[in-house]
Amino acid sequence: MEITNKNIEKTPKIQKAPVIIALTGKGGVGKTSLSALFVRQLTEAFPDKKILAIDADPAVGLAMALGVDVKMTVDDIRNMFIKTAQTDQAAAIEMLGEAKYRMFDALVERKNLSFLAIGRPESAGCYCKVNAYLKEIISMLAGNFDYVVIDGEAGIEQVNRRVMEKVTHLLLVSDASKKGIEVAKTIHEVAKDLVMFDQSGIIINRMPDLNLVDQLELEPLQLLSCIEDDKAMALSDMLGKSVYEIDASSPIYQGGVEALKNLGIL
Ligand SMILES: Nc1ncnc2c1ncn2[C@@H]1O[C@H](COP(=O)(O)OP(=O)(O)O)[C@@H](O)[C@H]1O
Ligand SMILES: [Mg+2]
Repeated sequence: MEITNKNIEKTPKIQKAPVIIALTGKGGVGKTSLSALFVRQLTEAFPDKKILAIDADPAVGLAMALGVDVKMTVDDIRNMFIKTAQTDQAAAIEMLGEAKYRMFDALVERKNLSFLAIGRPESAGCYCKVNAYLKEIISMLAGNFDYVVIDGEAGIEQVNRRVMEKVTHLLLVSDASKKGIEVAKTIHEVAKDLVMFDQSGIIINRMPDLNLVDQLELEPLQLLSCIEDDKAMALSDMLGKSVYEIDASSPIYQGGVEALKNLGIL
């Protein structure tokens, strides 16, 4: 039988496990900036691969850093379930069965990039529940993508709650402060018990003096890259621009590439 292109297309592809990169660390150290840059670098380096960006921080920000418009969040979908369950349980059960497809509705798509945001739960007490939901979503969706980048909430909560239960790369981000590095070490220590990851490492961002890298006490964390204070990044955020407009020669862009190379991802 003649093999046509159609036949080849029908042949099931061997599903390779996705690369799942999660960024975590203290607040304000550059997790969102670096997550967005990683997403840009992956979408540019692998135009034929599917990339999923997840904003797992209720403080939001990744959408703006990537220049995407969010119409629906994980929290919106969760609230829809709750509302339906209150009035019609049978319908709610049916909706749960369709959960995966509803999540696809919430994805913002742009070329080879898909984007999903956890959203900002209205009452603080709800956040643990939306975290549990997010965990299900990550494991449900991840298999449909080649690369997943998760911009985590500041601190240890999502590691504790095992929202990022199974990732391939756990990246700790910190500024050069002792406090930030301590937080990174603590998260790493807890993650060793609660998160399955293949590789981990630390990125030091906004380093005041690159000559002083040796002075940082990072052990047992592996240094993936050390990035100096970068005016281009600060300006981009100030003007609400996306990281796609940042010059590829800028220190933070180059630092991101270096980290991905050190991890063998690029
Ligand atoms: N290398 C850098 N140089 C200068 N400013 C930076 C750098 N990295 C991040 N920033 C700025 O620091 C602020 C916090 O960064 P952000 O990525 O939002 O941190 P996080 O997500 O960890 O809270 C932002 O205004 C961002 O533009
Ligand atoms: Mg952030």
